[in-house]
Amino acid sequence: MRTTVLAFAALAMALGIAPVSAADTDPALLTKATALMEKDFQSRGIAKVERLKQDDVMSLCTQYRGALPADVAKRVQAEQMATIKFPADGKYMGDWKNGDKIAQSGRGATWSDKPDTVNGGGCYNCHRVSGTELSYGTIGPSLYQFGKLRGGPTEANMKYVYGKLYNSQAYVPCSNMPRFGYHGVLTEAQIKDLVALLLDPESIVNQ
Ligand code: HEC
Repeated sequence: MRTTVLAFAALAMALGIAPVSAADTDPALLTKATALMEKDFQSRGIAKVERLKQDDVMSLCTQYRGALPADVAKRVQAEQMATIKFPADGKYMGDWKNGDKIAQSGRGATWSDKPDTVNGGGCYNCHRVSGTELSYGTIGPSLYQFGKLRGGPTEANMKYVYGKLYNSQAYVPCSNMPRFGYHGVLTEAQIKDLVALLLDPESIVNQ
């Protein structure tokens, strides 16, 4: 049982989810859990075992159990902010209808997908997105009427949403939200479509 909990904690961390259990702060237990994961998980197709490796931010979030000291948080944020590639053409908004499809698609990046499989964003797993969804997760805040409530597609809002989707850790260190652009899960065009989904006054989100 303990091993299962540990393995789950290690997997959650590897996937970029902040630590959930006290066990993950014990170096000996963490080493054991990591060894178990490496033994049990094999690379298959595009799903490589390397995904289990935590980068600098995830390691720090594990070490500090998701609550980074202010100076560390500041450094992490600055480093993550520097990774964001904002659109070269200066345009942040695409097509909200495409954005809706991306938000409601949870597919991609599994062993049975091909390298050219178009990934979804799976936003519905954690957020309420529109007023018409049958079900949605609540790990993240509701995004329903996001644009309406935040003042619409201003330059600052568009840049914020684009950046947030590209690399959530640049805004909230140890966030549970995946880093979609940083990890190459979503393309620039897809992120633009999602910016439109949240901020375009015509979008289903803002009705
Ligand atoms: C695994 C869960 C998870 C997924 C999947 C996820 N998010 Fe999030 N998201 C969160 C959490 C948790 C927060 C709050 C903490 C933070 O701001 O990072 C958040 C915050 C946000 C915010 C900032 C909200 C604000 O009030 O400023 C936006 C915008 C957002 N998410 C959009 C999206 C979109 C669009 C997608 C799909 C591409 C998505 N998220 C997928 C968990 C998730």
